[in-house]
Amino acid sequence: MSPPDDSQKIQAQIAELREHIRHHDHLYYGLGKPAISDSEYDTLFKTLQDLEERHPDLVTPDSPTQRVSGAPLAQFAKVPHDRALLSLDSVLAPEEVSAFDKRIKKELDAGRIEYAVEPKYDGLSVVVVYENGTFARGATRGDGQTGENITPNLRSILARLACLTLHGNVPQRIVVRGEVYLRLPDFQALNRQLTERGEKTFANPRNAASGSLRQLDFRITESRPLVLTCYDLMVSSGQLPPTHGETVALLESWGLPVPEPAQRQVCDGIEEVIAFHRGMMEQREDLPFEIDGIVVKLNSLERQEQLGEKSRSPRWAIAFKFPPRKELTTVQDIVVSVGRTGALTPIALLTPVEVGGVTISRATLHNVDEVARKDVRVGDTVKVERAGDVIPDIVERVAIPGEQRGAPFDVPRSCPVCQSAVVEEGPVYYCTGQTVCSAQLKGGVQHFASKGALNIEGLGEKTVAQLVDQSFVKDLSDLYRLTRDQLLGLDGFAEKSATQLLAAIEQSKTPSLERFLFGLGIHHVGQHVAHILASEFGSLERLLTATSEELVEIHDIGTEIAQSVVRFFAEPRNVAVLDRMKTLGVAVQAAPHEATGQGAPLKGKSFVFTGGLESLSRQDATQRVEALGGRVTSAVGKHTAYVVVGKDPGSKLDEAKRLGIALLDETGFLELIRSAGG
Ligand code: IVH
Repeated sequence: MSPPDDSQKIQAQIAELREHIRHHDHLYYGLGKPAISDSEYDTLFKTLQDLEERHPDLVTPDSPTQRVSGAPLAQFAKVPHDRALLSLDSVLAPEEVSAFDKRIKKELDAGRIEYAVEPKYDGLSVVVVYENGTFARGATRGDGQTGENITPNLRSILARLACLTLHGNVPQRIVVRGEVYLRLPDFQALNRQLTERGEKTFANPRNAASGSLRQLDFRITESRPLVLTCYDLMVSSGQLPPTHGETVALLESWGLPVPEPAQRQVCDGIEEVIAFHRGMMEQREDLPFEIDGIVVKLNSLERQEQLGEKSRSPRWAIAFKFPPRKELTTVQDIVVSVGRTGALTPIALLTPVEVGGVTISRATLHNVDEVARKDVRVGDTVKVERAGDVIPDIVERVAIPGEQRGAPFDVPRSCPVCQSAVVEEGPVYYCTGQTVCSAQLKGGVQHFASKGALNIEGLGEKTVAQLVDQSFVKDLSDLYRLTRDQLLGLDGFAEKSATQLLAAIEQSKTPSLERFLFGLGIHHVGQHVAHILASEFGSLERLLTATSEELVEIHDIGTEIAQSVVRFFAEPRNVAVLDRMKTLGVAVQAAPHEATGQGAPLKGKSFVFTGGLESLSRQDATQRVEALGGRVTSAVGKHTAYVVVGKDPGSKLDEAKRLGIALLDETGFLELIRSAGG
């Protein structure tokens, strides 16, 4: 214990640190205007943590150190909406939409009606408030009357879309409604990344968008490429235009993202609406985002007002939906497949059914918990769904009155391939056969040879299966012992293909550390983690002796990954395979720790991007800067060397001008990279 006066001093120091941290939290999370660098913030935080560790009696539950990362707050603050966020009635058939038109004509006593039509985005409804042309607040729809305050999350999205500040003659206060969603390629990439990290994936883009937006830690939202499309000006302190079509054009002129011109239309009469619906349905498969129909709105705002609204939906608009991409079929069998990690995945074999133009005969049931939760059994009728390119999913079992059901699914006690014992790890069951399970070995070899790993052309599924079944390959090192005669004995091989495969195997002997690590198929080590490990450790030898403590220190590496890596390299059989590979001439190339010296002409230079680049993605641009030793940061500061200004730049450009930072357009940036040797 410290003497009383000391203790008082420490208490005051702790209080001051907490206040400081809260202040910077507010600047960073609340206002999006950090005043100190990340490392300065980390120092403050660490100092507080150290003090609290030495004086545990002074720790209070409200201390910033007590916030678990990822779940800093119990819940979002509630915010009442300016005006109720209504929902829409929906129809499926053209006759129903014609009936809607008839009703409107009758009520308004009008002949022909103009409708504005646009996609019905399948995401989450949000409101964004701008004051004096600058983003002020944002909320989810909630129950329509009260939403959740997600200001920091929306700020991160608007910053990426370069519309934190609007331009033109924007009224003092506007409230805009729109939809936040994930584009399909981004949804698929996100699920791949989550799988790689051993985390749960999202069933569809809508769930992924919701899960990404409603994050208390806004940095998670920031890391997910959510987009926004605005479709309503709910409140304006200025004059509203006379029609919806003009309102959308106005929002666009201020710099807000709105439905693309090709995807919105003002229709003269309901026939044109029906034709637009048909056209969008045809385009649906080619769109890079999910829509579940179109929204039909009376174009005249005056007439909208005249018709008014019911309790939860307006009388002047309707959702004209598409037929669902879900169909019913029956389960013929439930089989278990064994993956390269040994995980057993229950697969439902279905009576083939066409869902949204594709015939489906298998659906994954993910894991045993999922089978139990959905209570799917052989013979059951189930609803299957397809979202984007994702493997079809069984949405639910459909109970049929009076049906005779089969027995519940039972996990096999032994591996269906090698008969080794099956063990349980959470909801996942694993075959313990590791090196003796031919299914694991086949999966492992195929993975090792795959494009992202050692890229051995000609080593596809069929060849690998034969090599394993004939016992030519008993572990990865055996690939480097294969002979021409062995290959010539395989189905589908002749002189030329055997020579080509041997050459491809020979060529794979000098893989980069990153590819090699990924290829080993270590649990939880996907491409992203392999990249991090390679750049942190530089050589296989160093990684072989890494400890769990060392590994968790690295950003993005959690305990599960760390333990898995350590366990892999502690297994004598794995080390023996690596040794054999080395003896057989496999020389894993050391990775540059970080671009330094001559290879780092941009060392110490930090870049900030604002607006969209045309010839390359942000990610590519970042990689090119980093490869030359430079850094890319998100905020413009005194130390920023260059601000790269793309299409539709945001407020970072203003900030750069204010601070007198050098500006580069895309061509200038590419020239700089080229002249630096990139
Ligand atoms: S207009 C009063 N337009 O659909 C007007 N909504 O089922 C109500 N949605 O909660 C909204 N795209 O989240 C409108 N172009 C669009 C839309 C759209 C998607 C969503 C919105 C709403 C739900 C209604």
